[in-house]
Amino acid sequence: MSLTILGIESSCDDTSAAVIADEYLLSNVMASQEVHRQYGGVIPELASRAHQQNILPVVSQALKLAQKSMKDIDAIAFTRGPGLLGSLLVGTSFAKGLSISSGKPIIEINHLQGHILSHFIKVNGRDNRSPKFPFLCLLVSGGHTQIVRVDDYLKFEIMGHTIDDAVGEAFDKCAKLMNLGYPGGPVIDKLAKEGDCDKFRFSKPQIPELNYSFSGIKTSLLYFVRDRIRENPNFIEENKADLCASFQKDLIDILMKKLLLAVKQTGIRDIAIAGGVSANSGLRNRIESEGEKRGWNTFLPEFRFTTDNAAMIAITGYYKYQNGLFAPLDIAPVSRAAEYGD
Ligand code: KG4
Ligand code: ZN
Repeated sequence: MSLTILGIESSCDDTSAAVIADEYLLSNVMASQEVHRQYGGVIPELASRAHQQNILPVVSQALKLAQKSMKDIDAIAFTRGPGLLGSLLVGTSFAKGLSISSGKPIIEINHLQGHILSHFIKVNGRDNRSPKFPFLCLLVSGGHTQIVRVDDYLKFEIMGHTIDDAVGEAFDKCAKLMNLGYPGGPVIDKLAKEGDCDKFRFSKPQIPELNYSFSGIKTSLLYFVRDRIRENPNFIEENKADLCASFQKDLIDILMKKLLLAVKQTGIRDIAIAGGVSANSGLRNRIESEGEKRGWNTFLPEFRFTTDNAAMIAITGYYKYQNGLFAPLDIAPVSRAAEYGD
């Protein structure tokens, strides 16, 4: 069956729309909101307003680039959650309105499942290698950190998750502490390349099973820097790159420790990473080198599919459509993953 899906993503501070036809990407348009940079984090109220301004032009552009009109679209997939409620409401309401005016059904998408299924987006002219089921996905974003076992396109089991901060949050908070701007992940990644990753060590969490914790290491960095600044007010400036490299290495060590445990427990050898932090070059290199050493098949998403995008929402919609999983028009967004029963 030939299927064309329009995807809409508005869970945080990126407004995005994409068109996918039979797993192949036709367009993926993104409007990022620069307004939050000056505040050092996403301001929910400003995010909703910016989505409201961006959504119509972004969706129109996605259809135009795909050379499709609404009559060619089989269904509208939209992010229902988790995310900022005001932001989600914009995408959800827009999808509903479009559904009523075009007569096309809507499909609700769990944003986290979208990140994972980004590995199945096919791009013309590219090697479209994708993981085989079952595979493990280390899902690392600004709001979540999970190890997920994926048995089929729509069959996920969360094997471990963070009990406090997400790893992306740890990157962002570290950057804030060092006055590096927002979002912090990409800046730390860049500075870390010039630094010595063994110069400093921070305290690592001792959390049972496959769960994570990132609030302790953040506090450890905070106290460490505070004490050093007392001796030398220029400590951060003089050690910026080494601090970034060391902190990043510790975060990656924490992530890898539990991932290795999950591999050991399951015997699964197809290993993927997804979410905003999967753009991190240190993490990508580490997954690849561990994979080579241990005989894994590793899967790193294309950079444009690491952070929030609508292509991942459209591909998830494609699989849900095939299972007849449509949403009613009175559906409401959900802000937390727990509301999905995850
Ligand atoms: O998936 P995402 O775009 O949004 C959420 O669903 O949360 O992830 C955003 C997170 C932010 O915390 C950002 O700092 C982090 O991804 N990030 C990175 C990198 N690029 C984005 N973290 C580390 N290294 C990067 N290169
Ligand atoms: Zn995300």
